[in-house]
Amino acid sequence: MKIAIIGASGYAGGDLIRLLLSHPRAEVTVATSRKLAGKPVDSVHPHLKGLTGLMFENPSLENIDADLAFLAVPHTAAMTYAGPLLERGIRVVDLSADYRLPKDTFETIYGVPHTDYFEAPYGLPELHRDQCRGALFIANPGCFPTGATLAAAPLAKYAHTIIYDSKTGVSGAGDNPSAVTHYPNVGDNVNPYKWTSHRHLAEMKLEAARLGSEARVYFTPHLVPVNRGILTTAHILLNEPMEQDEAEQLYQKYYQGEPFVRYQMPMLGAVRGSNFCDIKVESEGDRVVAVSAIDNLVKGAAGQAIQNMNIMCGYDEREGLMAPGLLP
Ligand SMILES: NC(=O)c1ccc[n+]([C@@H]2O[C@H](COP(=O)([O-])OP(=O)(O)OC[C@H]3O[C@@H](n4cnc5c(N)ncnc54)[C@H](OP(=O)(O)O)[C@@H]3O)[C@@H](O)[C@H]2O)c1
Repeated sequence: MKIAIIGASGYAGGDLIRLLLSHPRAEVTVATSRKLAGKPVDSVHPHLKGLTGLMFENPSLENIDADLAFLAVPHTAAMTYAGPLLERGIRVVDLSADYRLPKDTFETIYGVPHTDYFEAPYGLPELHRDQCRGALFIANPGCFPTGATLAAAPLAKYAHTIIYDSKTGVSGAGDNPSAVTHYPNVGDNVNPYKWTSHRHLAEMKLEAARLGSEARVYFTPHLVPVNRGILTTAHILLNEPMEQDEAEQLYQKYYQGEPFVRYQMPMLGAVRGSNFCDIKVESEGDRVVAVSAIDNLVKGAAGQAIQNMNIMCGYDEREGLMAPGLLP
């Protein structure tokens, strides 16, 4: 398969190139960047030096020659690429937020009109695999909603309240420097942000509702001084108490056979660079605490996007994605 990555100079685009290097059926043939067109990919991704001869380019939409395109561009940019690529018969996996929410919810939360809306499968394979099979377009979930929803899913329909408390690494903000991500503000520090109003909350609520849950859902993220990773503590307040054994068995059964969800003590180091999501639960009766760990750029972005590509194309879901994390 010929793969185009739109937005290949960013963090998610860089991880798509890195991961696809070991995919047996896919070859990246187009890597776009408007600012770096004409420069080699390793000029901003030095870890890829000697592994790819790709050059950044800035082709017009009609000149993108690919079987499948990943949109690793900011929200609102993706909606200008999705339709035209699909019209040309190119499958698309969109890593942005443009097609994850109903149109009116998107417009309210992102504060912009959606100029090319259509409904798309939400690519959290563990919950929506059937809708992703054979799809021509998939909306890849947000990084926080991936870790959070996987942490709460088995218990969501038994809960009246779910509170997600997440710690995220700095690469979640992309490669554009800002005061928030400036080293002295991040290093040796922990910062809560968007305490009650993070945009990803809408996705979390939508997923809880799709799981048949009537729970109220809350979310507060914190920026921590690591490059990659999201650790989410889900406080799941149950309608009826559940003992530890029952909660553990429920989780293990729910994710049995899932290639990328492991029931074990979550820690960022064990999933760093990998597509795994590690989850463990502890019950105190009417509150079950479920903690998940993912790499925001892999299971939270590029890895999950490749998992979705594999599912939409009928390949083995694990292809190109079975590399372990980097511990220590
Ligand atoms: N970082 C994460 O952990 C993460 C996780 C999940 C999802 N995502 C989503 O994935 C997407 C990419 O995130 P990122 O963190 O990789 O961002 P990033 O580091 O800021 O990279 C953005 C990329 O898009 C290109 N770009 C920007 N505006 C564009 C436009 N209007 N048209 C075409 N290309 C454009 C940029 O290159 P040029 O400006 O040179 O063209 C760059 O290659 C975003 O939608 C983000 O929300 C990110």
